[in-house]
Amino acid sequence: MDLPKLPPLNLEQIVNFYTPKSWGISDPARFAALMEEARQLVTPGSYLGDNLFTWGRNNSLFEDTEFRNAWQQNIQNDADQAIAWRRYILACAAFHCVQLEGDFVECGVYTGTGIKTVMDYLGGPSFPKTFWGYDTYDYNPVEGHRFAGQQEGFFETVQQRFANYPQTRLIKGFLPDSFAQGAPERVAYLHIDLNNAPGELAALEVLFDRVVPGGIIVLDDYEWAGVYRSQKKAEDPWFEARGYRVFPLPTGQGLIIKR
Ligand SMILES: C[S@@+](CC[C@H](N)C(=O)[O-])C[C@H]1O[C@@H](n2cnc3c(N)ncnc32)[C@H](O)[C@@H]1O
Repeated sequence: MDLPKLPPLNLEQIVNFYTPKSWGISDPARFAALMEEARQLVTPGSYLGDNLFTWGRNNSLFEDTEFRNAWQQNIQNDADQAIAWRRYILACAAFHCVQLEGDFVECGVYTGTGIKTVMDYLGGPSFPKTFWGYDTYDYNPVEGHRFAGQQEGFFETVQQRFANYPQTRLIKGFLPDSFAQGAPERVAYLHIDLNNAPGELAALEVLFDRVVPGGIIVLDDYEWAGVYRSQKKAEDPWFEARGYRVFPLPTGQGLIIKR
């Protein structure tokens, strides 16, 4: 396939990115005012959003035009806007994994933006791999985590979004039971985003051994604290027992490269 190319780099131009969407802020108005002031005090190349504030960075994600287009055209809500850097981690993992043997998998799909951003970065409707997407769709089995739209008929809405992407296999049901409806034998790319430790470990139990050498696993919540900390607590010993240490990314994700 034709992989996306980076445009020539303009040394004079640095993108600043700001979105008001972050989580865990007790006084959003005060926080916004303070950060507005702070942003004026730092060198260019700032990124503020998704609980990140950093500066003096290349912000490479915004210079990769094909990624930028894929991300922008798939934004459906404030969170999709804010998590641009997380999406670029997925896109770069996918760039690597699309050149390996094996399918692509996402456990925890919600509206499908994570899958579709990756596919649109790497060919859109002609994305060259089967992409499996597992979710209960119409309801959220994680207490306190019902997302907008998760009700009867939601699965069909997500399916409609992939009407022109015949290589997508969306599987509706509770994991890990729904693997019985079908699962790939070989996996190149695995994104796990279930917001709960038992579900994520159950998915790993089935899929980890199927990830090919060089394949990449991204855990969306691994490096987030608060209610997500129990995922790190469960996943660290699971990976350690197999001789792996998770790369904790500043985006809040965790990354593993399969040997
Ligand atoms: C944060 S959302 C996924 C977001 C998506 N990965 C993205 O990048 O846009 C988490 C999803 O996991 C699903 N989920 C959680 N536990 C599950 C389980 N055991 N089986 C199937 N789906 C589950 C929820 O229904 C929810 O849609």
